[in-house]
Amino acid sequence: MINLGVNIDHVATVRNARGENHPEPLKAAKLALKSGANSITIHLREDKRHINEKDLKKISKLKKIPLNLEMASTEKMLKIALKYNPSYACIVPEKRQEITTEGGLNLKKNNNKLKKIIKKLNQANIRTSLFVNPSINDIKVAKSLGTKCIELHTGKISNLVKKNKNYQKEFLNIRKCAKYADALNLEVHAGHGLDYKTTKILKKISQIKEYNIGHFIIGESIQYGLKNVIKSFKKILKKT
Ligand code: PXP
Repeated sequence: MINLGVNIDHVATVRNARGENHPEPLKAAKLALKSGANSITIHLREDKRHINEKDLKKISKLKKIPLNLEMASTEKMLKIALKYNPSYACIVPEKRQEITTEGGLNLKKNNNKLKKIIKKLNQANIRTSLFVNPSINDIKVAKSLGTKCIELHTGKISNLVKKNKNYQKEFLNIRKCAKYADALNLEVHAGHGLDYKTTKILKKISQIKEYNIGHFIIGESIQYGLKNVIKSFKKILKKT
């Protein structure tokens, strides 16, 4: 089975724009679960620009669906992960100024720190993953750090597809990396910038077992849901 992880960070982004409680990430997590999502992904950023610790606390209590916590490789985040005990943790790079996670981890730096964090998460039975660029060398390093899974950053292919450019070279690169990681016994995931079209393209790579998708799902849900919400208001506003 190929799993779909639904990233609900942007439900919190919309909520935070008003500083009130609507829409609610917890409700979105429950809806995603009811609709067939295989896991819920949230990224607790250091600046808490979307999901905050209260959200994490509430969502981590939903035991029917695995929670995938995306986290920076810091002691502070490790403590939080061990406290809330998500089923999965995916270590991602984090820069304050970036709009979103722009690339995979820099595995040339901080290897000892990463190794220690992965070890602690593995010991706590939290499934570990590293968000990496599609590079054979990075996958080799990821394996040596003790992670159980890797998530291939699909930003490059997503951009090429969106701009109607030739994506074949990047597709072949991702396929080569997925096969290589699979042969090393790493479970292969993919994420970043995915929409219907890119997901259909990548689905041809049988080694990819999980897709983590956020922005497009939430954006598309707004467009898709608009009709129903407006209908509800028109019903309320109808003269009796
Ligand atoms: N996977 C990881 C590890 C991420 O950090 C993100 C967010 O950048 C995603 C998946 C989801 O990306 P998007 O919101 O573009 O679908």
